Amino acid sequence: MPAPLTPAPPAPSPDALTLSRRAAALQPSLTLAITARARQLRTEGRDVCSLSAGEPDFDTPAFIRAAAAEALEAGHTRYGPVAGEPALRQAIAAKLSEENGVPTCSDQVLVTNGGKQALYNLFQVLLDPGDEVLLPAPYWLSYPEMAHLAGATVTLLPSDAATGFRLTAEQLEAAITPSSRLLVLNTPSNPTGMVLSRGELEALAAVLRRHPRLAVVCDEIYEFLLAPGHSHHSFAAVAPDLAERIFIVNGFAKGWAMTGWRLGWLAGARAVVAAASALQSQSTSNVCTFAQYGALAAITAPRDCVREMAAQFNERRALLSQGLMAIEGVQLLAPEGAFYAFPDVSAWGLDSMTLCDRLLEEVGLALVPGIAFGDDRCIRLSCAASLDTLEDGLARLRRFRTSL
Ligand SMILES: Cc1ncc(COP(=O)(O)O)c(C=O)c1O
Repeated sequence: MPAPLTPAPPAPSPDALTLSRRAAALQPSLTLAITARARQLRTEGRDVCSLSAGEPDFDTPAFIRAAAAEALEAGHTRYGPVAGEPALRQAIAAKLSEENGVPTCSDQVLVTNGGKQALYNLFQVLLDPGDEVLLPAPYWLSYPEMAHLAGATVTLLPSDAATGFRLTAEQLEAAITPSSRLLVLNTPSNPTGMVLSRGELEALAAVLRRHPRLAVVCDEIYEFLLAPGHSHHSFAAVAPDLAERIFIVNGFAKGWAMTGWRLGWLAGARAVVAAASALQSQSTSNVCTFAQYGALAAITAPRDCVREMAAQFNERRALLSQGLMAIEGVQLLAPEGAFYAFPDVSAWGLDSMTLCDRLLEEVGLALVPGIAFGDDRCIRLSCAASLDTLEDGLARLRRFRTSL
């Protein structure tokens, strides 16, 4: 019988005693663990349908691969400037200024090893022990770990499927304390698929104007993946008077199908970006030089390839949502963006970890338990899979529901 998904507590060993408190408290990423487990079961010959992955199943578009290959051949193989190739920083600044309506200069941009490193660096340079991060829940699972690594505490701002997983201005106002230092906004959201409207962002901005010490990080990594009828608004464009304390994190992974390239960016106030760059200079240095030329080709090209992939995600998201809503006991906010569905299945009477263990064991379906995102009532399904795979996953879920 395969081992359950639930990670075993680390065995005490003399080595564990040498770990720092920060490292000992760290939770490894459950989504990566589940994807790896599904892959392992497949290699053992099990019939597994995985809807757990958080990455596009498309190949990086050919012109982007070609640009990186050319750069490699042209000898872009050495250390580069820590903050990124000047042409790429400039292109990201131009993208933010023109496409997102956030006037940005290239020295306000740091090229990072994926959106993850942009977030990690930002948390490290903004937060001190005792500071508080305000985190709307459900949340992407790396935010709390990064906050804790910076010594900060996390205050969750909960929401649920019944109210569309929305953070309200009243909720934000009520949660702010003198220690509140950083608010995390992720729109479109992983895992819920919620997209904040311009009106909702304006209401949040009104609260922030009353609390000048509170900074905001906007994780916009799913900006291109929007269901019909929804638009992405950069918070700094909606509230330009707050731009000095709004930090944008974004990257190439989701929109351009470049997960393995590890390319993202942080943009915002010069002094903070410079501090994040100094941190990067003492940790990882520049992102792979020739890969940055692939990113440059991607970001300066028309968005045709991005739109084509986004259209496919729309078709899949719609299929997944309709299929889920037709299953008994499933409550779903029809996802407005990103490529996930996050249904509340608490009516089935199982906690999310037990449910995902049993789904994998009994019908060979790999999903991520909602507890990883701070909501034990839900499960996360990814639609970064073909229509056939989605149909297969839905059929397995229905079979499991019937067997309960
Ligand atoms: C909300 C969110 N932010 C950031 C990231 C990190 O992306 P990257 O691969 O660019 O580090 C992810 C990846 O899953 C994500 O879902």
